[in-house]
Amino acid sequence: MGLIIVANRAPFRLTPEGLVPAVGGLATALLPVLERRHGVWVAAGEWREKGQAATPRESQVRLEQVFFPEKEWQGYYGGFSNRVLWPLCHYFLERVELRREFYQDYQRANRRFAERVAEVFREGDTVFVQDYHLLLLPRLLRERIAAKIGFFFHIPWPSSGVFRILPWGRALVEGVLGADLIGFHTPEYVENFLRTAAYYGYQVEGNRVRVGERWVRVEAHPLGIDTGRFGELSQDPHIGLHARALKRLAGAERLILGVDRLDYTKGILERLLAYERLLQSYPQWRGRVAFFQIATPSRTSVHAYRELKRRVDEVVGRIMGSFLREDWVPLRYFYQTYTQEELAAFYRAADVALITPLRDGMNLVAMEYAYTTEDGVLVLSNLAGAAEYLKEALLVNPYDLDGMAQALDRALRMPEGERRERLSALKARIEALNVQGWAERFLASLEEG
Ligand code: ADP
Ligand code: G6P
Repeated sequence: MGLIIVANRAPFRLTPEGLVPAVGGLATALLPVLERRHGVWVAAGEWREKGQAATPRESQVRLEQVFFPEKEWQGYYGGFSNRVLWPLCHYFLERVELRREFYQDYQRANRRFAERVAEVFREGDTVFVQDYHLLLLPRLLRERIAAKIGFFFHIPWPSSGVFRILPWGRALVEGVLGADLIGFHTPEYVENFLRTAAYYGYQVEGNRVRVGERWVRVEAHPLGIDTGRFGELSQDPHIGLHARALKRLAGAERLILGVDRLDYTKGILERLLAYERLLQSYPQWRGRVAFFQIATPSRTSVHAYRELKRRVDEVVGRIMGSFLREDWVPLRYFYQTYTQEELAAFYRAADVALITPLRDGMNLVAMEYAYTTEDGVLVLSNLAGAAEYLKEALLVNPYDLDGMAQALDRALRMPEGERRERLSALKARIEALNVQGWAERFLASLEEG
């Protein structure tokens, strides 16, 4: 049976040789399944010059692009998706901009996706819709085609009290309930969604929501990483050489690493402040520890992201100004995107990964680090979805600077035995979450249910 994936982002990158598969969570999770089923991926258009239907090189997957007038794109993506839903679902309520025109563009854009999927659809196809950009799509599809429809929400579904802040909350919930199966990363998000549906008057029984004659199922399906791939990267001797060069560059006994998209939900500023606190409160680490923060440029068309960049630059400058010595560089900040091989070298070089989002749907970087490092320590935010599964990490409250500094000190001093014990338990958990199984399990539940 055919499969149609619908997501705002395409799973490809444009290189001089043409479109090639992207690395990263969703692409890795879904491309293999889509290849096997000769499926179609429908995404917002990035490559207009390639025509309406670009077929990536050496891929069985067909890409269908949806194009928008510029103003509509700004309202749908830069507006409703990233200045309303993103901050709201991550509990950054003061950043939410409730503007009616954003919602109108979001409706138009979702309809445009629905029209394109209806054109591509063949009888018997399953449609699998991804993430917060497309909450209205399941219902719009149900009105147009007779398909099994799955929906996956990759960010936190907030508590119903927070969701109700949205004047369009009811319509959004109605939209997503057009699906047959709705997936989240953790049981907490499932619970929050069910309470939200109940608030809007839907009958909820167990993990099912009644919509007219239908029962919509709501399930937790945690996404993991490609453990086969990261297992290889952890053994690759070239990457080992690169890791040793990075360790030499650090020029300290211990290296701490942070890796994120440059996003205010990731807690980068708070993390830098926690590192500063470590150097102030535990002066014995001065000259003996180095911190590398990698931040990938992200959503630079949105003001909050440009503002965050400015503030991070400022704090990085301040820490350097206070602590830099001729023989010691306390902090290095890399504002760029890396290949997976390069990232793996950073993972292998680091003694401690400090992954402290203020809120995160899951967080795959935490899993990538724990799976790739040989004997490092993972310090993880208790507000990331991943904390639900990675119990052997050192869990911290990412708002508590003293608590983070204390956890960092403990991580830096952790004896080898404890490090290895925690890490082998973490690796086993990550193995069980392997990404290959994620799509299979969700689709099996959708198609059998
Ligand atoms: P999010 O989806 O919010 O960005 P995740 O941690 O779940 O957060 O996923 C981020 C993905 O992006 C990971 O697979 C990670 O390897 C990748 N990534 C993060 N930073 C970089 C970078 N600087 N260069 C390349 N890839 C990166
Ligand atoms: C998160 C979201 C994805 C999104 C990604 C990158 O992981 O859940 O849906 O694609 O961030 O953000 P961007 O705006 O660049 O697509």
